[in-house]
Amino acid sequence: MDPSTSRPAVVIDNGTGYTKMGFAGNVEPCFIAPTVVAVNESFITQPNRSSNKSSSSWLAQHSAGVMADLDFFIGEEAISKSRTSGTYNLSYPIKHGQVENWDAMERFWQQCIFNYLRCDPEDHYFLLTESPLTPPESREYTGEIMFETFNVPGLYIAVQPVLALAAGYTTSKCEMTGVVVDVGDGATHVVPVAEGYVIGSSIKSIPISGKDVTLFVQQLMRERGEHVPPEDSLEVARKIKETYCYTSADIVKEYNKHDKEPSKYIKQWRGIKPKTGAPYSCDVGYERFLGPEIFFNPEIYDKDFTTPLPAVIDRCIQSAPIDTRRALYKNIVLSGGSTMFKDFQRRLQRDTKKIVDARVHASSMRNNSELKAQPVEVNVVSHPIQRYAVWFGGSVLASTPEFFTACHTKAEYEEYGASICRTNPVFKGMY
Ligand SMILES: Nc1ncnc2c1ncn2[C@@H]1O[C@H](COP(=O)(O)OP(=O)(O)OP(=O)(O)O)[C@@H](O)[C@H]1O
Ligand SMILES: [Mg+2]
Repeated sequence: MDPSTSRPAVVIDNGTGYTKMGFAGNVEPCFIAPTVVAVNESFITQPNRSSNKSSSSWLAQHSAGVMADLDFFIGEEAISKSRTSGTYNLSYPIKHGQVENWDAMERFWQQCIFNYLRCDPEDHYFLLTESPLTPPESREYTGEIMFETFNVPGLYIAVQPVLALAAGYTTSKCEMTGVVVDVGDGATHVVPVAEGYVIGSSIKSIPISGKDVTLFVQQLMRERGEHVPPEDSLEVARKIKETYCYTSADIVKEYNKHDKEPSKYIKQWRGIKPKTGAPYSCDVGYERFLGPEIFFNPEIYDKDFTTPLPAVIDRCIQSAPIDTRRALYKNIVLSGGSTMFKDFQRRLQRDTKKIVDARVHASSMRNNSELKAQPVEVNVVSHPIQRYAVWFGGSVLASTPEFFTACHTKAEYEEYGASICRTNPVFKGMY
């Protein structure tokens, strides 16, 4: 028996904002690190002084390459390095859910495997994740890096929302039909899945995600004149968002509540100025409920995009095959860090149900009274591991014996090449 199949598989969910990594069978990822790499640029761009001596220039470049290979950091360490030293440049390999910088991505994986998980990649099968709109070429690059650079014995690249649905395996009775609403840091996708297969033509994406909530909170605080040091303002806005923001039922009522009892609703943020070390404080007010409101009334943030998330969910289900629609409305599953706002699930359920009920009512009015449409059950499902639903679903899937048979193996890669990674069996008839 292949010894690597008896060891737990490595599960890595690479997100635009955070990478969740750990071993199959665990309930939580071992590490959650910001998806960022800091490289010491001084090794790559040597000064021109030696350019007149070609041999020494070559040597400098060569050792620069070797050093640059060693001299990089990822995650929180990368962020603090770039703060304390001007020679480190930050690079974010993933943008809007897609890998854009493959060199940085390879470095990132290298540190994840050797420095964080501290395992030998030759001894473990790997489960990686991808966004539902990832092109096959990108899957091929991932395969190439995993099999060539890290020499992994087996690889499975899973589609993030399918894993989020599979996370239901242990949280309730498993339902592999549903709509996954994955709201991460850089991408928001609404993905219908029927019997475990993604209905590719009905996937909807919106240009609003967690990072936009952060930017909106930052903008609101800046406009009110709160004294947050500019170099820290994005990070502070993110922390304020994660700590104090919530979804309101009605923003007009929420304004009134805040105005009537400011002491109850206005929070204080205290920080230290990074340059001088002096303490400062600022108020957190309306942005507490206005931040998450951009999912429900996007026009307050982006004048070019005005469709609320509940309407996008409704359109997604309406475009799916008619015989799947009732089951899809019944199981709308939340996934990703930006669905964690208090009462997000409640508001999404209420607003989606309103749209559906209005349509059922309109259809009943059009038909004669004998043909009554049956009410449609709308359920937005929230569960305790929603924040890491994708990673957790991966951990569950990769601990089943079938996982090892579904993986592409090193032997297959050597025989057929990276093109084996192009196809993804969960997209029925798409590729
Ligand atoms: N408690 C919280 N309340 C609100 N937002 C949160 C909370 N915790 C984390 N977030 C936000 O969730 C986002 C990260 O979520 P997640 O890890 O699902 O995204 P990702 O996988 O990195 O990105 P993507 O899936 O878009 O590629 C960040 O914007 C973060 O600020
Ligand atoms: Mg994600």
